[in-house]
Amino acid sequence: MGKNKLERFEENLTFPNLFQVSYEFLQQNTFPLKGKWNSDFFKNNNPIVLELGCGKGEYTVNLAKKYPNKNFIGIDIKGARLWRGCKTSNEDKMGNVAFIRTRIQLIENFFAADEVSEIWITFPDPQLKKPNKRLTCERFLSYYKKIAKNNSIVHLKTDSYELYDYTINEVIAEGKYPVVFHTDDLYASDFYDDVKDVRTFYEQMFLDMGKKITYIQFKLQQ
Ligand SMILES: C[S@@+](CC[C@H](N)C(=O)[O-])C[C@H]1O[C@@H](n2cnc3c(N)ncnc32)[C@H](O)[C@@H]1O
Repeated sequence: MGKNKLERFEENLTFPNLFQVSYEFLQQNTFPLKGKWNSDFFKNNNPIVLELGCGKGEYTVNLAKKYPNKNFIGIDIKGARLWRGCKTSNEDKMGNVAFIRTRIQLIENFFAADEVSEIWITFPDPQLKKPNKRLTCERFLSYYKKIAKNNSIVHLKTDSYELYDYTINEVIAEGKYPVVFHTDDLYASDFYDDVKDVRTFYEQMFLDMGKKITYIQFKLQQ
């Protein structure tokens, strides 16, 4: 039987690559690894890739295995889900993986300007009634721009046609954020790269329901 939530929270405290600090801590202190992830934690100069709303962290863990010369950090507010990625990355002794339990709105407390090179957004809640909470709305993109290098790639993989359509036609329209590729039916498209290599927990549920998966790759420009 799987571990229950409390057991996972307990074990989360033992993972050296999981960071969880309170909002109050962030109000009064600078997060110790802000601007220092590579020098003080990963101990290399490799690019840092984020997975936002990572849940169990499938992209974080699987891409980290595929790309040992990149560093991957998964971010989610739910500790019981993060436990899965933490457990696997520790069991497999993966030095290029970390997780942060926090709200994505607080991301600039954890990273300095230009510290991040690429961002994956995997099956976020589409927030159909609250556009201001969508992970691709201008408010969230402005958080990402504060920490990402100019021209960093953002990947949005979602089952929500509404979120796909909103992102393409309302947010990144008019060339403000150049689109590299987009499709409203990923698995029917010829496009092939990491986006087809990993299926997340939610993705598999949506595929089992017969839903199409959409994908947008665009650039964050300052
Ligand atoms: C639908 S789940 C997808 C999880 C995973 N990416 C997957 O595909 O299986 C959305 C995830 O985003 C997280 N999330 C939503 N809003 C968030 C926020 N503002 N900050 C941090 N995590 C958030 C939720 O906790 C949840 O794990």
